[in-house]
Amino acid sequence: MNPVSLALIGCGNLGRVHAECVSKMSEARFVAFVDVNEAAAQACLKDFGGEYATNNTERVFSDKNIRAVYICTRHDSHAPLAIAAARAGKHVLIEKPLALKMEDCEIVAAEVRKAGVHLMPAFKMRYYPLIQRAHEFIPQPQVLVGQMMDSRWGDNAWAQDPVQGGANVHSQGCHTTDILRHLAGSEPKRIWAAGGALTHPGHPCIDQCVAAIQFANGHVASWIQGDAGMGQFTSKFFLELFGNGGRTVQLYDRFKKAVFFDGKDTWTEERTDEEGFLFENREFILALREDREPALTTHDGIQATRMVLAADKAIRTGQIQEL
Ligand SMILES: NC(=O)c1ccc[n+]([C@@H]2O[C@H](COP(=O)([O-])OP(=O)(O)OC[C@H]3O[C@@H](n4cnc5c(N)ncnc54)[C@H](O)[C@@H]3O)[C@@H](O)[C@H]2O)c1
Repeated sequence: MNPVSLALIGCGNLGRVHAECVSKMSEARFVAFVDVNEAAAQACLKDFGGEYATNNTERVFSDKNIRAVYICTRHDSHAPLAIAAARAGKHVLIEKPLALKMEDCEIVAAEVRKAGVHLMPAFKMRYYPLIQRAHEFIPQPQVLVGQMMDSRWGDNAWAQDPVQGGANVHSQGCHTTDILRHLAGSEPKRIWAAGGALTHPGHPCIDQCVAAIQFANGHVASWIQGDAGMGQFTSKFFLELFGNGGRTVQLYDRFKKAVFFDGKDTWTEERTDEEGFLFENREFILALREDREPALTTHDGIQATRMVLAADKAIRTGQIQEL
């Protein structure tokens, strides 16, 4: 079978990470690279091979050879590009967040449904092997802790921009809310959060968030998100699961290490590499090859953003948000 033909839209840092992952797989290849900055697209073509580089997104949407597009641009262009891709009949892998507003998420979902294409939000945390191990070990954690704490973002970083990025909680919070919802195995029911613009005082966006989430199955999670400084033991990513029989797992060191406790014995498991990106790419490509829905869908993208926006509202109003 011929490799699946893909186009990369957004050839910056993350676009290149995905191109690197796909270059390790024989089942797919990027044939086209698109960026408003054509030099970035040309650099990808040179480094990863393919057929053409362009600054014209329409060219890949009308290219019948291309089955799927990767959207790896800044956040304000995610929804318009996803809508255009769906209308052109292309499957989509989209970097997080799906969109910064619920209305945009819903429009994307409607267009994807109407077009009958698949859209997979790129929540790489689902694909870290030790998170998957932890989930098998504690399939129904009653209590969860999820922390994603970065070093302070630069004031002029694009992701700090209210329109292009949304600052740390809007930009990255969906990684943590998605993995907590996934591990809880249940939809979120209510959320309360405290926080504000604490590392960037005066900024209109929320950069720190400490939230309590209750899921429909009664299980609960504590969620910490921000750019107040990277814990040297935890690393940027930290997760903790508490289950029946005293079972616990702590995942740290960018999810390359995990400490398991079964109520009696304790042991550590380690991975040498961070494999989330590679394995999420594999899932998307295999779904295309097998003509099936990927494990993650538009609904997952919507729910992750819904939780982030509810936390934002709780912070601004002081009110518990029902979801
Ligand atoms: N999953 C993760 O762990 C992770 C980590 C970092 C960033 N990201 C996400 O990846 C995405 C891109 O982030 P980045 O750090 O690569 O940013 P970046 O600025 O390095 O790259 C974005 C690229 O998109 C191009 N671009 C902007 N608008 C465009 C348009 N309309 N059409 C075509 N090209 C356009 C820009 O010129 C730029 O080259 C964001 O959604 C970000 O949140 C994900």
